[in-house]
Amino acid sequence: CPIETVDYMPCEDPKRNSRLSRVMNFYRERHCPLPEETPLCLIPPPKGYRIPVTWPESLHKIWHSNMPHNKIAERKGHQGWMKEEGEFFIFPGGGTMFPDGAVQYIQNLGMHIPTSGGVLRTALDMGCGVASFGGYLLNEDILTISFAAKDSHKAQIQFALERGIPTFVAMLGTRRLPFPAYSFDLVHCSRCLIPFTAYNFTYFLEVDRLLRPGGYLVISGPPVQWSKQEKEWNDLQSVAQAMCYEVIAVEGNTAIWKKPSVDSCVSRQSNFGLAICSNADDPSKAWYFKLKNCVSKLSIQGEIAVGSIPNWPKRLISPPARVTFVKNGIDVFKADTELWARRVAYYKKSLHVKLGTASIRNVMDMNAFFGSFAAAIFSDPVWVMNVIPSNKPLTLDIIYDRGLVGVYHDWCEPFSTYPRTYDLIHVADIDTIRRSSGEPRCNLVDIMVEMDRILRPKGMVLVYDSPEVIEKVNRIVPALRWTATLHDIEPGSENNKKILVATKM
Ligand SMILES: C[S@@+](CC[C@H](N)C(=O)[O-])C[C@H]1O[C@@H](n2cnc3c(N)ncnc32)[C@H](O)[C@@H]1O
Repeated sequence: CPIETVDYMPCEDPKRNSRLSRVMNFYRERHCPLPEETPLCLIPPPKGYRIPVTWPESLHKIWHSNMPHNKIAERKGHQGWMKEEGEFFIFPGGGTMFPDGAVQYIQNLGMHIPTSGGVLRTALDMGCGVASFGGYLLNEDILTISFAAKDSHKAQIQFALERGIPTFVAMLGTRRLPFPAYSFDLVHCSRCLIPFTAYNFTYFLEVDRLLRPGGYLVISGPPVQWSKQEKEWNDLQSVAQAMCYEVIAVEGNTAIWKKPSVDSCVSRQSNFGLAICSNADDPSKAWYFKLKNCVSKLSIQGEIAVGSIPNWPKRLISPPARVTFVKNGIDVFKADTELWARRVAYYKKSLHVKLGTASIRNVMDMNAFFGSFAAAIFSDPVWVMNVIPSNKPLTLDIIYDRGLVGVYHDWCEPFSTYPRTYDLIHVADIDTIRRSSGEPRCNLVDIMVEMDRILRPKGMVLVYDSPEVIEKVNRIVPALRWTATLHDIEPGSENNKKILVATKM
C-alpha cells in the first residue's frame, strides 16, 4: 500500500465516516468499507521503524520513530500523559485526572475498593487516553481493557498498544460496546467525557449492563462535584440511587459506587421510570447492537457476583456458573483447559514459539471459545485479546468469568486496532470464522491481509486447522511475504490437524 496508509484503520477512517450522522456520535463509531472497497495490499511501516521496546520497559518508553505523532505530547504533556525525549516518547504515568501519576491515584482508590488480593480482576477503562490507568493496575493483577475513540489527539490507542497495554479503538455512541453482560468487576472513567445521564441515562444503563453484580463503578472528573454541571451530577446520583447502587465514597471529583450483588431493585427502578429490557434481547448480544434505554437483566446474578466468584487466579480454572448454559459445559470447560495447556507446552517446546520471552507481549486469539489458549499462557509476560467471532456461540462471558478479557468481532471486517499492534496472532479453525451455515461470507485472503495489517514486523502467526485449510493458508503466505513452516500437531492427539507457524517480514 502507499506510504500514506501507514496508520490505516479501515473502519475508523475519518474521510469516509465524517459524512455520516453526528447524532450520538454515530459518525465516530466503526463503519467498515465493503471488502471490495478495502485496499488489498500490505501496509508499510513508517520510515525508521524499529522492533518495539519490550515489556515492561515499554510501559515507560517507546520509540518515537514508530509513531512520530507529537500532538498528544504537546497538548497533554503538562498532565503527565507523555513527552518526547530524544529517540523516545516517555510516559510518566499521568492522566487528566491524575497528573501526579496513576500509581498514587490507584493507591487512593485502594482505600475504598479491594484493589489487591484478587477480588477484582477484570476492569474496563472508558475513554482511556494513553491507558496509564490500566497499565499500572497490572501491578495489582487487575486486567483492564481500555478503549478510546480515534480522535483529534491522534493515535492515543496506538501509543497504548505500543506500550503493551490491552486496548482497542471504540467510541461509545449509538451501539452497545462489544462485550457481554456482567463482564467487568470494575468500570472506570476519568474525565472520559461520556455523558452518562444524557439520552435518558442510556450510557449509564450500558455501564450497568457491563458491570458484574457487586462490581464497582468509579467516575472521576465531570460531572462529579463539578462546577456548572450541578444538574448532571444530581442526575447521576439519582440514577445510581434508583439502580440501588451503594455510594462507597465521594471525595473531591471522584465518586465510587458498588452495584448490588443480587437483583432486588425492580420497584425502585420502575418508580424512577426505568424500564426492564425485553426478554427477547439477550443482554450479552453486543455486535452492532443498538443501545436501548432499558435495564438489562440476566437470570444468573449472585453466583457470578464480585465476592462470590472465586478470587483471581483461582477463577481462571474454576468452571463458572455461566458455563452450564453450554451443553455438557463443565466437562467441556475442563477438557478444553487441559487440552490447551498440553498444546501450548508443545508450541513452546517443539515449535519454538517464543511465548514466555520478552519478544511476545500483545497476543490475539482470533477464535477463543473458552479462552483456554490464553489461560495456558497466563503466567507469561503477555496479555491476550480473546476474540469471539460474531458468527460463533457467545462464550465471551465465560472468558470474563475466568478473569480474562476480549471482544466480539466479525472477521469478515477489519479489527478496530492500528497497524502493527500484535506480536502473535493465534487462530484455530480459521476457515470457520468466515462462514455462516457452512457458506463462506468473505475470502480467506482478505482475512489474512487483515492479520498482516495488525501484526508487528517480525510478529508470528500460528494457525491450527485441518490439513486442507492449512494447505490453503500456506498458498497465500508468499503473497504476504511471510515465511512459514508446517508441523504435525501435539503427540497423543487424535485430531486430524496441522499447524502453520509463520513470521512476518
Ligand atoms: C480528557 S481525556 C481523559 C483520558 C484519561 N481517562 C485520563 O484521565 O487521562 C478523554 C478521553 O475520552 C475519550 N472519549 C471521549 N468520549 C468518548 C466516547 N464516547 N467513547 C470513547 N471514548 C471517548 C477520548 O478519546 C479521550 O481518550
